[in-house]
Amino acid sequence: MPSVFIKTYGCQMNERDSEAVAAQLVAKGYRLAPSEHVADVVLLNTCSVRDNAEQKAINKMENIAGDIRKHRPNVVLGFLGCMAQSRGQELIDRLPDVDLVLGTQKFHRTAEYLDDLLAGKRAKVVDVAEEQGSEGTIREHLLNGNAQKSVTAFVSIMQGCNQYCTFCIVPYTRGEERSRTIEDIVGECRQLVSQGIKEITLLGQIVTSYGRRGSVRHVTPRADEPTPDPSEEGSEPRGARPQFPSLEGSGVGSSLRPAKTTFVQLIEAVHEIEGLERIRFTSPHPKGYGDDLVEAYARLPKLAESAHLPVQSGSDRVLKLMHRGYTRARYVEIIRKLRTARLGIGITSDIIVGFPGETEADFEETLSLCREVEFDNAYLFKYSQRKDTPAAAMPDQLPEDVIEDRHARLLSLINEIGKRKYNEFVGRQMQILVEGPSKRNPARMSGRSRCNKIVLFDGSERHRGQLLDVRITRAGLFTLYGDPAIVNL
Ligand code: 5AD
Repeated sequence: MPSVFIKTYGCQMNERDSEAVAAQLVAKGYRLAPSEHVADVVLLNTCSVRDNAEQKAINKMENIAGDIRKHRPNVVLGFLGCMAQSRGQELIDRLPDVDLVLGTQKFHRTAEYLDDLLAGKRAKVVDVAEEQGSEGTIREHLLNGNAQKSVTAFVSIMQGCNQYCTFCIVPYTRGEERSRTIEDIVGECRQLVSQGIKEITLLGQIVTSYGRRGSVRHVTPRADEPTPDPSEEGSEPRGARPQFPSLEGSGVGSSLRPAKTTFVQLIEAVHEIEGLERIRFTSPHPKGYGDDLVEAYARLPKLAESAHLPVQSGSDRVLKLMHRGYTRARYVEIIRKLRTARLGIGITSDIIVGFPGETEADFEETLSLCREVEFDNAYLFKYSQRKDTPAAAMPDQLPEDVIEDRHARLLSLINEIGKRKYNEFVGRQMQILVEGPSKRNPARMSGRSRCNKIVLFDGSERHRGQLLDVRITRAGLFTLYGDPAIVNL
């Protein structure tokens, strides 16, 4: 029984892909190894979104090849995912110890290729081709991978991205948008809930575009359907698309109610699942945040009150250069509506500092947006030039010291706002879903509030999976500490 170790870089989508590959391999008789040092197969599931993510994976593979391979020449080494997709054969040319390079539409073939490599039937495999229907192939979950029962799960609802933000490599590494059917997704969610999952996060590069290529414009065109966004034009889907429900009965045509997107229809269908406590999704695009989605927060109680809504910049000029498809004012308006629809909603964001041509005045717009919106937290990214993206060829690429300086200034603002917002929870009671022991201090248990704050408390394994009311006693940086509340009746 060969053993495999998978190391994952990058986003939640990558985490989910790795989990599915691990489950597939276990089903085929592989064992999961606790580290690369004892595994027969070492796979690195890679990220391409910034250069340093790529360098990390390449350095890791160099170390493994130089160290582990020396002592155990038969170990199989592979790159999976985004960097495998964008670099292909080049990775083996550079690192000849690598045996397998598998792209983002080929995860489901991992076991087959590894079997061949281990049996000596093939010397090397590079497969980065496109594959029709690959969005429906990642179904396996490994709920008991760490011997303990999982409470939350990610479900992939779509693959790819058609947005083509000028900085971003994802449309090239993940391909065009392809959505799974509502039926298929709900089936997977039901199965997870029957296995004890209480919270599901629907995953996609841009979840608000879910089903667009299947229903809204290609299956049931209606005179009164929502106006397609002009920035979505230009890339038609290939081949037959799955059927999605029509907009029938969704309020389309009424002058008062907004048209219901396929994504909101999906949330409603998942919401019906008995035993499921919470629904989240990531990431939406501000452009797709229509009134129907805002309204969903007001009427669907299982939809947890948190939103990760990447803004990228606070300057309209930069947003335009980025090809984001919204203005600062429109973004602020969405946040205002969300906060009205659901009090206490937690809002987080992604921001890029140092996009080509970003002036000090543009950057100050980003600072002022953060002061205006007051994110609970924001992930800051130093702009990184990506191969073949339009922004890589733009003039005024900024020097590193300018990017570093702006990054430090924005980080201190985000931390200051975060500290203030987290401190506001002290003394309050909140409901958390207990996920398991804290990673840093296994003596503590960790849960998440509905507004997606991590809450640590002194508890034990018996709390896992419980919805628990806790009283917040203190706040750390982006962490809350609480005591299980004693309710006095
Ligand atoms: N440079 C820096 N950050 C980037 N991101 C995407 N592409 C780049 C790039 N070229 C960031 C965006 C996105 C997050 C996942 O990664 O903020 O939302």
